[in-house]
Amino acid sequence: MKLFGKKNLYVLMHKDIPVLTAVYSDVQHEFKEVVEILNESHLPIGCRKHGEVTLHRLNYWYIRRSIPGYRVGLSQLMERLQINHPMDLVEYTHAVSVSDTYWLKKENEDVTWNEVSFFNHTFDQEGFGSAMFASNADIDPSSARLTPNSNTAGFHRKAWFRRDDELVLLKGGYPFHQMEPVNEWLACQIGKQISLNVLPYHTEVYENSLVSVCPCMTDDNTDLVTAEMILMECGSSKEQLQLDDYISELEKHGIDDVKHKVSEQILLDYILMNTDRHSQNMGILVDANTNKWIDTTPIFDTGTCLSCLVEDHEILDEVRNHECTLLNRRQFDFDLLLNHIDLSSFHLPKSLLDIPREYGNMLVRYQPITGISDERIEKTYTLLYKRLLKIRKLARNSVR
Ligand SMILES: Nc1ncnc2c1ncn2[C@@H]1O[C@H](COP(=O)(O)OP(=O)(O)OP(=O)(O)O)[C@@H](O)[C@H]1O
Ligand SMILES: [Mg+2]
Repeated sequence: MKLFGKKNLYVLMHKDIPVLTAVYSDVQHEFKEVVEILNESHLPIGCRKHGEVTLHRLNYWYIRRSIPGYRVGLSQLMERLQINHPMDLVEYTHAVSVSDTYWLKKENEDVTWNEVSFFNHTFDQEGFGSAMFASNADIDPSSARLTPNSNTAGFHRKAWFRRDDELVLLKGGYPFHQMEPVNEWLACQIGKQISLNVLPYHTEVYENSLVSVCPCMTDDNTDLVTAEMILMECGSSKEQLQLDDYISELEKHGIDDVKHKVSEQILLDYILMNTDRHSQNMGILVDANTNKWIDTTPIFDTGTCLSCLVEDHEILDEVRNHECTLLNRRQFDFDLLLNHIDLSSFHLPKSLLDIPREYGNMLVRYQPITGISDERIEKTYTLLYKRLLKIRKLARNSVR
């Protein structure tokens, strides 16, 4: 049963702290009016402009938490869950996520964070997982709809599962080549060799799709806030690369060693030619009880790299060197990333050059699932090998 009535007052909650009351429309799936701010210090980061909450910013923050209209497989998912709009799902679950601890309830509704949070109770994980990934899904839509997946952003198919009492995120790749899951694993292998803080990802096959599997970075006491929201909140201008604003905002809030942490991520993106480091693919962890900024997140979502979206014959094209993304900047030369990395602060051991062989073996292992060609594997292997040779050479030159 749907939880929301029409034009009623709702309370935006942060765990059990009421944050604001607002009129919400379940037809347009948005807030219509902010009625009262109840707790200024618990307002979501990103919903203020020039220090004041605006309806537009609040709705932007709210929508960005949910399944986007461009999610792979969205229309099939909606059909299987018997919903008309991804926001319907949000409304079935009190707008609960597992990436943060905000939620919505009707004014006077007698319900607590403990009752709605998916950190604290089970859900029909196979139901939603099948609806998202399976070629034939035999599910109970009303049970599958009660899911933390209603508020999980991003393009790729994904589903949360609880395993051994830990939440893990299964995430597929772009259906043509499905290389992203192996690329996420690769990013971790490189991260291990050069001591980068990369979220651990491994690969599995789920419902005949290749998926990456990673642990949840957040918990009942921790929110993930993306760089996008931080940059909006601090009023960063999009006229120039927003990296300096991001770094100084994190420093201002007491996060240690920010420049080096950000440069770890940029180094990995440089090596792997990541084309997708937009402002939702980096962020920080915040204490949900005190709102203290804790640290940057481990590096996550590095899968869209090594020319994984282009045709086989285009993988090694020079033109790919200009497809870098960083925050608000797109389609620029990867070499420009070097301006933001102090290579002398990293040790790039020779054993890095063993990784392409392991990577190639992984791609071969999953060929029966992905159907990618030998040519594709050879070219991607070559690209990775060249990138590793190049970064080692640059690092050697940087210490001379
Ligand atoms: N391990 C995690 N723990 C908590 N939240 C996560 C985790 N992984 C991802 N998220 C949240 O889910 C969002 C989407 O995840 P992710 O970026 O991995 O998906 P994607 O589909 O690859 O995204 P994109 O659209 O950038 O390709 C992230 O921006 C983050 O807010
Ligand atoms: Mg992402």
